[in-house]
Amino acid sequence: MSPTKPQILVTGGAGYIGSHAVLALKQAGYEVVILDNLVYGHQDLVDRVLQVEMVVGDTSDRPLLDRLFATHNIAAVMHFAAFAYVGESVQYPDKYYRNNVLGTLTLLEAMLAAKINKFVFSSTCATYGVPKTVPIPEEHPQDPINPYGASKLMVERILSDFNIAYDFKSVYFRYFNAAGADPSGLLGEDHNPETHLIPLVLMAALGKRESISVFGTDYPTPDGTCIRDYIHVNDLAQAHVLGIDYLLAGGETGVFNLGNGNGFSVKEVIETARQVTGKEIMVVESDRRPGDPPVLVGSSEKAHQILGWKPQYPGLEDILTHAWQWHQQRHG
Ligand SMILES: NC(=O)c1ccc[n+]([C@@H]2O[C@H](COP(=O)([O-])OP(=O)(O)OC[C@H]3O[C@@H](n4cnc5c(N)ncnc54)[C@H](O)[C@@H]3O)[C@@H](O)[C@H]2O)c1
Repeated sequence: MSPTKPQILVTGGAGYIGSHAVLALKQAGYEVVILDNLVYGHQDLVDRVLQVEMVVGDTSDRPLLDRLFATHNIAAVMHFAAFAYVGESVQYPDKYYRNNVLGTLTLLEAMLAAKINKFVFSSTCATYGVPKTVPIPEEHPQDPINPYGASKLMVERILSDFNIAYDFKSVYFRYFNAAGADPSGLLGEDHNPETHLIPLVLMAALGKRESISVFGTDYPTPDGTCIRDYIHVNDLAQAHVLGIDYLLAGGETGVFNLGNGNGFSVKEVIETARQVTGKEIMVVESDRRPGDPPVLVGSSEKAHQILGWKPQYPGLEDILTHAWQWHQQRHG
């Protein structure tokens, strides 16, 4: 029997991306403990599918964190716990700075006290703001246009300062659009409210929504709709395992984009969803939304080269097929 690998704390492990990362960590032989306040997470998926220990609590609860670190043998932390609704962050910025920045700072301070100095952080392409070049490389200027992106950029800055002051090593991943579901059909995206295109399109295919709105059909793109970089959630999860492996092997602090490198337009997503589901999907065309750039596509060359990461499911068809399996069993 191979020796058990170290224990990893996954905050937000009951949420969409975090739950897929927990599964990937388990499959890679890591022991996992989840910290989630269940504001958006799903207890039933942890119990039925992940079957790992979960501490129900908040990243801002310092006494709870101190107890957690004192009673477990945690070697590194993977931090997904955050609020991630861009529109809500514009309306209630305090809520976002409190949870995403203060909550993270409390967690980092507890880690310092417990002498744990390895951290994988969920950052976002929203830290770039409106892109000046595509595909966007990591050294592209960061100028977020909403409080959500700003809250993530602030944490990146804290991590960079911690690296200098405390020899605190982190990997921060700037994801593009997470999409798809575990091919088993047992795990997937279940946000409430849902704002992401693919689940909304599939809910329309299931008849749970009347139609799907397309915001803007006059962008300077081949079919006039916005182009985004959709990255399969299992590929994201795999990158996180590689990030943990890298840090535990003594890797330096680093930032990596995680995207597909291929952009797909809103119309392409809807058309592929029609093919995969065999269903009619009603479309309502509306005006552009403010702040939506025509094209958002990342370059993930650095993750390929340094972490050896290569997406296994770069095509829209796989992403939509897996998401469709999940949505049918979850909402059908
Ligand atoms: N979904 C995307 O496309 C995307 C893109 C870029 C970055 N991200 C980032 O990835 C991370 C995960 O996103 P997701 O789509 O899985 O979101 P999610 O809402 O499904 O998961 C987040 C989880 O964190 C928990 N949580 C939130 N605040 C907490 C706190 N203070 N203490 C404990 N638990 C808390 C929630 O209950 C939830 O289970 C977030 O940090 C998000 O900003 C997501």
